Amino acid sequence: MDLTDRPRRLRRDGVRGLVSETSLSPSDFVAPVFVDATTEERVPIESMPGHERVPVDEAVARVEEVLATGVEAVMLFGIPESKDEVGSRAYAEDGVVQEATRRITEETDAYVITDVCLCEYTSHGHCGIVEDDAADDPALTVENDETLDLLAETAVSQAEAGAEMVAPSSMTDGMVAAIRAALDDAGFEDVPIMSYAAKYESAFYGPFRDAADGAPAFGDRRHYQMDPANRREARREVALDAEQGADVLMVKPALPYLDIVSDVRREFDRPVAAYNVSGEYAILHAAGEQGWLDVEATARESLLSIKRAGADLIVTYFAERVAEGL
Ligand code: PBG
Repeated sequence: MDLTDRPRRLRRDGVRGLVSETSLSPSDFVAPVFVDATTEERVPIESMPGHERVPVDEAVARVEEVLATGVEAVMLFGIPESKDEVGSRAYAEDGVVQEATRRITEETDAYVITDVCLCEYTSHGHCGIVEDDAADDPALTVENDETLDLLAETAVSQAEAGAEMVAPSSMTDGMVAAIRAALDDAGFEDVPIMSYAAKYESAFYGPFRDAADGAPAFGDRRHYQMDPANRREARREVALDAEQGADVLMVKPALPYLDIVSDVRREFDRPVAAYNVSGEYAILHAAGEQGWLDVEATARESLLSIKRAGADLIVTYFAERVAEGL
């Protein structure tokens, strides 16, 4: 054969690392941690093998486990002791996330990011305030503008507790502007916002809604989260969040939305995050349990593909497992 161009030459050990275009490092990952005010013991999350809800007293120990793998950042989600119509425990000074944040930032070197949303804290499970008779209303809507104040209050209460970054995930229009203004007013102009800028209404969140007990009691999230059919709209969503001052732009979920990750990378000069969600984790674990695939190898390949598509950082339930293997 008269072949001058043989790509195989660069695939051998010794050279493949030199020409590799993408790499993974534990410092790329953010590990989600669930803190639960309703339990005194660690509770395994059935749909997410290897993950647990931990009481506040165990939060530091849980975060130390993450740090031991080389992962430096955690994202906190809270399961409150009680829920009400307006999600008061999301912005309570002694809320579960606020308490855990205080301890973790005082006692560990972890970089603490807090999820800013109301769905785990509202009795109806929606990411904001809903009208009184919403349960019977087929045209249910979450009140956008009334919700903004509560999100801002949540973010400020988390920053007061020591959160180093806040991550609003409710897809409320104007949430980044409202949170930025409130943080600045409270003297937290150095706390960055990682916005869930393009968050889709995805069936891949199923296991998380079990884990965090945040499934909507009625209706769904189609009128505030994005339609999975839309790619152009993501540009508009992300542009709005960037204009409002989002420091990091997140796309969620990750694997079924790599086209969006790639678009955001190309079109915006800000760090891009991707959230490799609970359903993406559950799939690999379920197949792994059947012996159909190698969980660690497929997890590593998944995270590599998310970085290759353009993500700078990845929120992932695989953080510890993959970091340990690197
Ligand atoms: C809260 C929130 C959700 C997730 C992260 N923050 C749930 C949702 O929107 O239903 C999902 C994370 C995952 O599936 O891993 N709004």
